[in-house]
Amino acid sequence: MTTRIEPFKAIAISELAHRLKAEGKPVIHMEFGQPSTGAPKAAIEAAHRVLDSDAMSYWESAPLRARIAAQYHEAYGLEVAPERVILTAGASPALLLSMLAGFEAGDRIAMARPGYVAYRNTSRAIHLEPVEIDCGPETRYQLSAQMIAEMDPAPAGILIASPANPTGTILPPEELAAIAEVCKARGIRIISDEIYHGIAYGKPTPSVLEFDDEAFIVNSFSKYYSMVGWRLGWVIAPADKADTVRAYRGNLFLSPPSLSQHAALAAMDCREELEAHVETYRANRAALLEALPRMGLSSIAPPDGAFYIWADISHLTDNSLAFCERLLRDTFVATAPGLDFDPVNGHRFMRFSFAVSTPEVKEAISRMEPWFAALRSS
Ligand SMILES: Cc1ncc(COP(=O)(O)O)c(C=O)c1O
Repeated sequence: MTTRIEPFKAIAISELAHRLKAEGKPVIHMEFGQPSTGAPKAAIEAAHRVLDSDAMSYWESAPLRARIAAQYHEAYGLEVAPERVILTAGASPALLLSMLAGFEAGDRIAMARPGYVAYRNTSRAIHLEPVEIDCGPETRYQLSAQMIAEMDPAPAGILIASPANPTGTILPPEELAAIAEVCKARGIRIISDEIYHGIAYGKPTPSVLEFDDEAFIVNSFSKYYSMVGWRLGWVIAPADKADTVRAYRGNLFLSPPSLSQHAALAAMDCREELEAHVETYRANRAALLEALPRMGLSSIAPPDGAFYIWADISHLTDNSLAFCERLLRDTFVATAPGLDFDPVNGHRFMRFSFAVSTPEVKEAISRMEPWFAALRSS
C-alpha cells in the first residue's frame, strides 16, 4: 500500500512538551492552534441541562442549522437556506465531505503553500491531486486571481483560507471577488475554509459565498467559539450538492455529536464572551509583533487574523524541527516547525500560536528573548 499522508510534525514537539510538563517543567503551549479558554459559559450550562434529559441519539439539530443560516445574514447579509447547512464533527470532516461531493478521483486541487497540513493530506487520502503553489510575501502567502488564471491546465478546484493557517493573512474583498470571477470563467470549484472568521484585527473578512454561491464553505466551532474538543462544524453546500454532502455525512459519520449541538446553539449567543477572547488575541499579537523583531525575527507574515505568526528563521537554521525542539528544551516554549505547512521551504520557518493567555505570551517572550540573543551572538 502506498503512503499518501504524513503525520503532523508538530505532534512530535507537542509530545515532548507534554513529557517535559509531566516532569514539572513550566511549559507554554504555543505549538497548536487551539484556544486555551474552553467553551462559553452558557454553552456549558446548556450541555449540563440536556445531559439529564436527552438520550443523545443520532441527530442533526434543525434549530442550530437555522441559527447558522441566520448568522450568514447577520454577518454577511446573505440568504442561506438552512437545508444547505450540513453539521459535521468539526471543519476536518466538513473539508473531507466538501472534497468528496465537489470532485472526482484524480481531480487537481490548487492550494497555497504554506497552508494547513490537512489540505494536501486529505486530498491525497481520497485520491485527489493537490497542486501546491508556492506563495510568498508578495501575495501575503495566498493564492491570487492571477495565479489561478495562469494555471494550465485549469485545476478542477481551489482551496482557499482567509484568515489562513499558518500565516493569519486575509485575502482582501477585491481579490476574493477576482478569484471567484476567474474560477467561474474557468469552471473551477472553490472550497473556502472560513474557520478563522470572527478572529480578525481590523481587516474585513467577507465570506466567499458573497461572490460565489456555488462554493463549498467550511467552518467550525473550534476557533472563534473556543470549542475544539466538542468536535462540531459545518459545510454550506451549493444548493445542488447539499443532498450529496448529507449522504456522505450519513454514511461516513452518521451524525455530529448531540451534546455539542445543544451547547453550540447557546454558544452562538455568547458574543460578549467570545469577543473578549478576540481582545486577548489582539493583545497577544501586539506583544509578539513588538517582541519578535527585537529577537531578530523581522521577516514575518502580517497576521491580519487567526492567532498565528509565521516567521522566517532562515538566518538561524535550515532545520525548523530541530530548532523548535531546542527552543522547547531550553525555554519550555513549544512552537510549531514550518515543515507541516510547507514541505518545501518550511525547514526555514516556524509558527507561533498566540491562542494562550496574555501573561503566558509575555512569559514566553521573556524566556525567548535572551535565547534568541544568545543564538545570534554565538
Ligand atoms: C485552517 C484549518 N482548517 C481546519 C482545521 C480543523 O478544525 P476542526 O477542529 O474544526 O476540525 C484547522 C485546525 O487547526 C485549521 O487550522
